[in-house]
Amino acid sequence: MTRFFGLRQEPGGALVVDRRSGKHWCVPPSQGLIYSLWDGKRTIRVLADIVGTTYDVSYDKAIVAVCDSVQLLKQINLYADMAVPLRQSDPRKYLFRAEPNTVDLGVLSAPISVELMLTNTCNMRCAYCYMSAQQATRRKPQYLPFSLCSKILNEAASIGLQRIFISGGEPMLNPDANRVIEAAVERGIFPYVSTNGLLVTEEFLDILSLPEVGFVQVSFDTADKHEFALITGKQHIFGRVAHNIKKIVQRGIDVRIKTVVTRLNCTNIGPTIAFLDALGVSEIELVAASPSASGRDGLSNLMLTDKEFAKIQEQIAVHWNHATVHFSNPLAKDLGKKTPKMCGGGIESLVVFPDGDVGICSMLRDSRFVFGNAHNKSLHNIWMCDALARFRRLDGVQLREPCINCTSLETCRTGCFSISKALFDDPFHPFPTC
Ligand SMILES: C[S@@+](CC[C@H](N)C(=O)[O-])C[C@H]1O[C@@H](n2cnc3c(N)ncnc32)[C@H](O)[C@@H]1O
Ligand code: SF4
Ligand code: SF4
Repeated sequence: MTRFFGLRQEPGGALVVDRRSGKHWCVPPSQGLIYSLWDGKRTIRVLADIVGTTYDVSYDKAIVAVCDSVQLLKQINLYADMAVPLRQSDPRKYLFRAEPNTVDLGVLSAPISVELMLTNTCNMRCAYCYMSAQQATRRKPQYLPFSLCSKILNEAASIGLQRIFISGGEPMLNPDANRVIEAAVERGIFPYVSTNGLLVTEEFLDILSLPEVGFVQVSFDTADKHEFALITGKQHIFGRVAHNIKKIVQRGIDVRIKTVVTRLNCTNIGPTIAFLDALGVSEIELVAASPSASGRDGLSNLMLTDKEFAKIQEQIAVHWNHATVHFSNPLAKDLGKKTPKMCGGGIESLVVFPDGDVGICSMLRDSRFVFGNAHNKSLHNIWMCDALARFRRLDGVQLREPCINCTSLETCRTGCFSISKALFDDPFHPFPTC
């Protein structure tokens, strides 16, 4: 499979992005220069010659620099004949010297990824879903218009955005969904799509087959038809979704299944993985339902106990023919001693809501986390605005113990704002596992 990496100039050097996983690294300008010349044809010796001449250093020193750069590509699984930078970067951009370690991920010149929520409506009503909850309060269906998507994508391409997530609601209910995905590809931005798998047309499959489309994520919570109807709130759709997943797999499209684990499906996780494995699915991501919003039925009756989580671990400790299974639970008790994962919202990513509002997280529909509207402000201006800069520094935030004196505050920033808001009605409350 072709692997793509993105390269972008940053004030202190270069940003290298694995376009599939979204993992990224900041590297010095000399390394940026090496990657900008990386075309799968130049040998390490040729690259070392160029680096030596450009920076006026010995060949021995230059070859060490090139080998170090290759090492990073190997680490991120991008060292292969088929690993190509999507857009050739201009090597001249990296012809500057910088002190070591001056590249700062905290102040990126532009986001790495943006989520476009193409609509707030959906043809399912999943019990745990934060959009089901939003639909109940915001009745009016909204669709991000193609003209606005196009404007955003043009800006995104010019500021070096690497990935665009197409989601919703159900994005395929937006009549322009396919056009938006194609428009992203045309502009050299990698689109990723999240869908419930109900509306999979031949045209959609053709677009998903383009090599520049990242994976498509299909939500699928259980292989039990009755449970499926109970979770999605819809009768008689199980067969269609399963058939569509099979079609996607048969087309050789990179598909990832996302399964949200709740009390409604927790006893059927093993059979569900076996079902997907038999369809040929190679990647399944199980996630515990996040209490980020109340969902259709409220979440308290859906959340799992520690005992139920342990039972799930037992069900997935099996070797499958095709499927690799990942399981994450943001509220796992064993997280207690670790620092919660830093939220990338506003630090490396943004989300555009269906009305054009730009925020930091699709689960956090809260005016305190909206930093402009894409209809009347450019992505760049929103990214650079004072309010977002203050938010990044947690300026004006009333911090509590133990966050105030915590040595991890800079990297953790009090954990997940959306979960804390849902649980404590305070987005900056210390993360519950602390
Ligand atoms: C809101 S949906 C939108 C895209 C599309 N309708 C779908 O279902 O994939 C995006 C993803 O959010 C996940 N999701 C929704 N509510 C969640 C919750 N409370 N906890 C964890 N994931 C949730 C869904 O499972 C889905 O994979
Ligand atoms: S998870 Fe996706 S399919 Fe289910 S209700 Fe939410 S938006 Fe719709
Ligand atoms: S105490 Fe606060 S800042 Fe420290 S790790 Fe926990 S949530 Fe993060």
